[in-house]
Amino acid sequence: MKIVFMGPPGAGKGTQAEKIVDTYQIPHISTGDMFRKAIKDQTELGMEAKRNMDQGTLVPDQVTIGIVKERLSEADCQKGFLLDGFPRTVEQANALDEILVSLNTEIDYVINIDVDLGILKERLTGRRICRSCGATYHMAFNPPKVEGKCDKCGGELYQRQDDNEETVGNRLEVYVKQTKPLLDYYSEAGNLVNINGQQSIDLVFADIQTVLGGNE
Ligand code: AP5
Ligand code: MG
Repeated sequence: MKIVFMGPPGAGKGTQAEKIVDTYQIPHISTGDMFRKAIKDQTELGMEAKRNMDQGTLVPDQVTIGIVKERLSEADCQKGFLLDGFPRTVEQANALDEILVSLNTEIDYVINIDVDLGILKERLTGRRICRSCGATYHMAFNPPKVEGKCDKCGGELYQRQDDNEETVGNRLEVYVKQTKPLLDYYSEAGNLVNINGQQSIDLVFADIQTVLGGNE
């Protein structure tokens, strides 16, 4: 099963991806996570990504397209994958189409997690992430059982550097200008499904499962 998750920053893409990966056993390919790993490893890619991520702007298309192309060519993506945070520009969407043709495959579902932009600041500034396993929490909406500790692995929870009010504001503007137009692109292509992202995490997942049906 080959899925693309669309949706603004904080819509719940990463949260739902964790559930999809557990249920359908397909790799979760998040360009944001790949960049954050590169920053942690202090690679050249990391340096370039950090300059943009700290401002809430996009990493240049050619850099991003390159890492996705490489990742999708790996063996574990043959049976399926979940793309989260890519594509984010029309140029990236065109590149993805070309990559899929070269791999002789296509996307089964483009799922847009639809949320009012007005509620996203609270979601993003309250987010906490496990340093060890990457699980996502929210101080109010999805708190861990023990403050500051991951329920799954006991790891330490931290706040993403770009989850401060100022950068969040920029990220939402960038989404509206550069990424939202892609909804028309996929709507015209005919495989866009909208999901109401303003329900509980479990209800959003139930709706996604209904879309995916029994397919594995
Ligand atoms: P990236 O890491 O992709 O961030 P994003 O798209 O801004 O999305 P987020 O990860 O912030 O949100 P999410 O939808 O995953 O929400 P989550 O599930 O965590 O990108 C970061 C940066 O990297 C970009 O700004 C850019 O610089 C660069 N980048 C990445 N990809 C790129 C690309 N393709 N091209 C160029 N540059 C790129 O949930 C958020 C919070 O809400 C959590 O606390 C969660 O617990 C809570 N929550 C989730 N669902 C619900 C719910 N239903 N109800 C209540 N709370 C909920
Ligand atoms: Mg995410």
